[in-house]
Amino acid sequence: MKNRLIAADCLDALPRLKAGSARLIYLDPPFNTGARRRAKAGSYDDAFGSPAAYVAHMRPRLEAMLRVLASDGSLFFHCDWRMSPHIRLMLDDLFGLAEPARPDRARGVFVNQIIWHYGLGASKAARRLLTKHDVIFWYARSPDYVFNALRDAPTPAMLDKYRHVNAQGKRYMNAYGKRYVMKGGKPLDDVWDMPAIAPTSRERVDYPTQKPLALLTRIVQLASNEEDVVLDPFCGSGTTLVAAQRLGRRWIGIDINPQAIEIARARLAARL
Ligand SMILES: C[S@@+](CC[C@H](N)C(=O)[O-])C[C@H]1O[C@@H](n2cnc3c(N)ncnc32)[C@H](O)[C@@H]1O
Repeated sequence: MKNRLIAADCLDALPRLKAGSARLIYLDPPFNTGARRRAKAGSYDDAFGSPAAYVAHMRPRLEAMLRVLASDGSLFFHCDWRMSPHIRLMLDDLFGLAEPARPDRARGVFVNQIIWHYGLGASKAARRLLTKHDVIFWYARSPDYVFNALRDAPTPAMLDKYRHVNAQGKRYMNAYGKRYVMKGGKPLDDVWDMPAIAPTSRERVDYPTQKPLALLTRIVQLASNEEDVVLDPFCGSGTTLVAAQRLGRRWIGIDINPQAIEIARARLAARL
């Protein structure tokens, strides 16, 4: 399968993709903020009305995604506090978790609710706390989904504790007459502290709500293997596709906005 960029509504493009072909689907659709999202390199509509109207818009697109998702594949849905409760209920229903008594429905797996805590952005909030996180739901088609365990970077305290280095270059410490080799930082948990893209970052292509490459690199590493197909049906500036390409995965990106497709194409060609 060749890597592909498709300028279309994903509702039209997804039925043309091979059933069961994607090991990982990541979607970062409009969040229903009620405003048009604008930046130097493009803009897109983000006003769908009531939560029910948003869900009615997203549901057929998700059904089309589930046809393309492999039986051992994962779906990551990126959203924020506005729609997340409605999305969670919709995903429970689509993955057959809402009615456990219905064996006719394929049983999916709720894997995690990831909180992406970002530091940058507006710092004024009148009479409420600053809103500094997004929500990413991870669901899988079956319990056989790909899971590549990742660890945080070791903290300075751990590096201080494991201060010796063995012949294989691994850090270790001696305690109670035994040698303990450091495995890395602590296993990754579901709250991710990662900065949003800074205004001066070299990574910035000025597409509205562009996500950081580090975030997508982590998701692609966690839930896919080399040569797997990674699909982003709302790909925007192509962050997921760049991460997939760097990690030796194949990729398919879809966006309704031809400007976004052009930016993604340029990014992928420049290997940024
Ligand atoms: C939040 S942005 C994605 C940003 C992207 N993750 C990035 O890092 O640049 C959402 C994208 O969804 C696209 N979009 C909106 N409705 C769509 C649809 N029905 N099918 C495909 N793309 C759509 C918009 O054009 C926009 O580029």
